[in-house]
Parts: sequence; structure tokens; C-alpha cells
Amino acid sequence: MYAERVLSGMRPTGRLHLGHYHGVLKNWVTLQNEYPCLFFVADWHALTTAYDEPGTIEENAWEMVIDWLAAGVDPSQATLFIQSRVPEHAELHLLLSMMTPLGWLERVPTYKDQQEKLEHKDLSTYGFLGYPLLQSADILIYRANRVPVGEDQVPHIEFSREIARRFNHLYGREADFEDKARVAVKKLGAKRAKLYEELRTRFQQDGDHQALERAHALLDEVQNLPLADRERLFGFLEGTSKMILVEPGALLTEAAKMPGLDGQKMSKSYNNAIFLRESADSVTKKIRTMQTDPARVRRTDPGDPDKCPVWQFHLVYSDEGTKQWVQQGCRSAGIGCIECKHPVIDAVLKEQEPMHERAQAYIDDPTLVRNIIADGCERARKLATETMRDVREAIGLNYT
Ligand code: TRP
Ligand code: SF4
Repeated sequence: MYAERVLSGMRPTGRLHLGHYHGVLKNWVTLQNEYPCLFFVADWHALTTAYDEPGTIEENAWEMVIDWLAAGVDPSQATLFIQSRVPEHAELHLLLSMMTPLGWLERVPTYKDQQEKLEHKDLSTYGFLGYPLLQSADILIYRANRVPVGEDQVPHIEFSREIARRFNHLYGREADFEDKARVAVKKLGAKRAKLYEELRTRFQQDGDHQALERAHALLDEVQNLPLADRERLFGFLEGTSKMILVEPGALLTEAAKMPGLDGQKMSKSYNNAIFLRESADSVTKKIRTMQTDPARVRRTDPGDPDKCPVWQFHLVYSDEGTKQWVQQGCRSAGIGCIECKHPVIDAVLKEQEPMHERAQAYIDDPTLVRNIIADGCERARKLATETMRDVREAIGLNYT
């Protein structure tokens, strides 16, 4: 009923690294060719945990947008914006908060997990409890039906679905829904209207799902029908209320196996990251000095790639031939570790080369980035405003 739309956000926590690239950004770059996409800086979400040290959020936000652009996110295809520059998110968050049971929020698994993980911080705040609800507002305000996220975020998407359902259930019926639906049926034209009524009756009386499917197909065929009427007709079929907010689905991004320099998950806080726009010298040095199989002390000792983080990098970057060369050469002490690292260094530098190139223009002229974001915020705001109009009307706060 509503057009396909992808939305995702990222908290501005600092420079992005290769883990972000392989885990998230590569996927965004693919998606932007397939769907209308909105990607945003979740600066309010950063504030939920950094409220006592907000000083770096803004700078991180600009740097992060440059990282996105460097990775190939294309502002002529995707809409890039900053959450707090679209204050409608806050309004929707507030309105949704009125109907959100506390228990639902307390039960979201990330709530307790994160509180325990960041125990040095007082996270028994109103804002932090509301984190998933703010995220729901982010998603629902664009009627985004596809949200690419990692596994850890799936409970938040599920939460957003429940909130959308509850909202539609509570407010989804227009006062004169049935009248308006009947008027919309007439707009189908005599023949289609008759078929629509027949199919609707068959579904509602006999639970005939085939009839429902045929009716959906019928509506899909109709052109020149105002969006609101189309929606009413879909809703009327099932006897349900008008769908105001769209239930989103998670687009699960496969956990990319991008290890850090020590073989653990790549993360800034583990100090094992290679940053997206790190200089070639620094990258070379990091890889040259990264750990290898600890049992391989001397050049003449055979090694075991399964115990070596360098092998993890080969799995990401090397072709079959190179991988065989590593397996064979390592286990027979035929190659040295520095030799083994060369193809990895080359591959990482090659991957980063176009990123440095793309980023340079934005570093040289920061107004380019400001303009991209200003433009994106404006586009996002237009969409958000439309949804908010429907939301206010549904609740009964439109004061016209
Ligand atoms: N919570 C997400 C994360 O930490 C960031 C985020 C905020 C988000 N709002 C969103 C992701 C909306 C997807 C959709 O990764
Ligand atoms: Fe690791 Fe390669 Fe050295 Fe083997 S040869 S221990 S895989 S770096």
C-alpha cells in the first residue's frame, strides 16, 4: 500500500572502521540502488548514553557522514540526514509514549544488557528506557517497511511492530471510516466495485483467503486512486481499521566476519580496529605488527592458520589461490608471517584507496557535507510532516 522504503540509523560514536564497512555500509551501498533509502545520524540516541559528555557528538556526526560518503553512500540516491534536525521524530516519540506500556520497554532485552555493560554509568533514566521507543518513532515516521540492522537490533524492530499495531488499533479508525470506505469503493468503477464487494463478503463471511488475495490484486491494478482511498479499501477488506503506521520488518544484515587485529570482533573499544580512512602507513604498520599464531615463534616453526588472526583477514580479503598458499605455506613453514601478511596489506589498502579519494573533496570543502545534510533533512522532514499530519488527525489533535 505504501511504497517500499528503507531506513537505517547509526549513532555517532566516533570514526568508523572496517567492521562497520563490512557489516553495515557495504549493505547500505547495495540497498541504495534497489530502494529509496533514508540513512540518518542518530544523535539523540547517542545522547541517551552520553548525556553527561555530549561534547563530541556533533563532531562525530560530521566525521561519520564523511565516512559514509567515503564508503560509497551516494547522496544523489539516498537521503542522508540528522535525527535532531527533524524534530518531528520527537513529537511522534512523545505521542507514542502516551500509549506505550512501561512493561514493554522494561522487557526489551537490550535495556538490562546495556545497563549491565555500561555499569559505570547511571542509565536508570527516562530517556534510556525510551531508547527503543525513540527508535520506533524514527522508523514509523517514514513508514519504512525495511530496516537493515544487525542481529542485536532485532528486538527493537519487533518492538516497533508492536507499537505500530497498538497505535493502529487504538486510533486507526476514522470517525466516518465506513462512509469514506464506501465512497472509495464507488471510485473503483461499477464493475470493479461489484467484484470488490463480492470478494470482501467472501473473505469476511467465509474466511476465504483466496478471495482476499484476489481483492488485493484487484486494488493493486487500479490506478489513479488517491492514496488515502487505497488504504481505506485495503483496511475495509479485512474489516480492520485504517492503517496509519506501517509495521516495519528487519532486513537482517548477515553478521560480517570482520575480525579485529587480535582476532576478536573489531571494535574501537578493544583497540583492535583499522579505521576506514586510516593512512596507508598506519594501516601497514598495524597489520605488520598484528599477532600471529602464538606457537609460531621462529620462522622455521610450522603454524596453524586456525589459531591466527591474519588468517581471518585472508578469509575476508583473499581469493582461493592465496588462501591455499597460506594454508600450505604456514603449515609447512614454507612462508614467513610477514610474507603472509603482504596480500592482506595490499587488499586493505586497495579497498581504502577509493574511500580516501571520495573523502578528500569533503575534507577540503566541509560545506559540501553541510549541504548534503541540509538537503537530506529537508527531504526527510517533508515525509515526516506528512505522517505527523495523519497521526495528529488520528488521535484527534489537528485543530482545524
Ligand atoms: N539503535 C541503532 C543502533 O544502535 C541505531 C538506530 C537508531 C536505528 N534509530 C534507528 C537503526 C532506526 C535503525 C532504525 O545501531
Ligand atoms: Fe598466521 Fe600467516 Fe604466520 Fe601462518 S604464516 S601464523 S597464517 S601470519
